[in-house]
This record gives sequence, structure tokens and C-alpha cells, in this order.
Amino acid sequence: MNTLDEFLSYVEGDTFREQCQSICGCLRDVDSRYDWVGIYWLKGNELILGPWSGPQATEHDRIPISEGICGAAAREGQTIIVDDVQKDPRYLACFLTTRSEIVVPIRKNKKIIGEIDIDGKVAGAFNDQDREFLEMLAEYIGSQWPGRW
Ligand code: SME
Repeated sequence: MNTLDEFLSYVEGDTFREQCQSICGCLRDVDSRYDWVGIYWLKGNELILGPWSGPQATEHDRIPISEGICGAAAREGQTIIVDDVQKDPRYLACFLTTRSEIVVPIRKNKKIIGEIDIDGKVAGAFNDQDREFLEMLAEYIGSQWPGRW
């Protein structure tokens, strides 16, 4: 996959919700390092799990922004890459197989409205290319957000 445009050509769905669901599945389809992909929406001080795609459901479908790597990314307003989740005290464990994680904030008019959360099965799975691509994707999602969930 080369560009955001190429990736978006795989995305299906008539509504924003359907497109976000498709984005989660397409990310896993195009890159096997993306083992579990979810989008959390920020509502008040809580992150609420929206669409996701992965081998199993997470029990963390609501995360206070005071907790987890997801909470840290929302509080700090920046992408967080964790090479080894076992060494990060902020980590909220979902799956025994997860070793690394990337969380990318989604903004609408500069305000954080959610984030893309991706878990990987090997340590150090994610790099600056992932950051760059996922930040462009997050910008696209934010630009499409209809202003309500
Ligand atoms: N690991 C995340 C929680 C969400 S699961 O990865 C799906 C965290 O530490 O915030």
C-alpha cells in the first residue's frame, strides 16, 4: 500500500459509521502487523469503543482518559507508539498476545474526538511510517466526522 488514496479505495460503506468499520477491517487486511484495530470515540472524559476488527473482543470498551495508553494519547494529544507493552506501566492489557501498540488521536477542527488504537503481536511492530500513514488516516476520519456519533 502506497498512499492514503490507495487505502481509501478499499474502504466501503455509505455512512460514516460503516466507513469507519470498513477502515478497521481494511487496515488488518493490508498489513498483518495490525492484529487488532479499533476506533475509540471521546465522550466527556471517557473513550468509548466504536468499530473494531480483530481476533477477539476487548473488555476495555470504555476507558477513562486518566487510564491506559489510550487515555495518555487523548490527554497528551499526540500519537503514542509503545514498543513493548510489558514494560509500559500505563498499559491496560486486553489480549495476552499483544506486545506493541500504536494510538493515534483523531481531531475535528483541532479538537480530539477519538483515536485509532492498534495492537501488534511482536515487540517493536510500529514505526514512523505507521505513524505518518495513520495520522493522515486519522485526519481523513476527522474530516468526515458528521459531528455526532
Ligand atoms: N491497551 C490499551 C487498551 C485498549 S486495548 O489495546 C484494545 C491501553 O493501554 O489503553
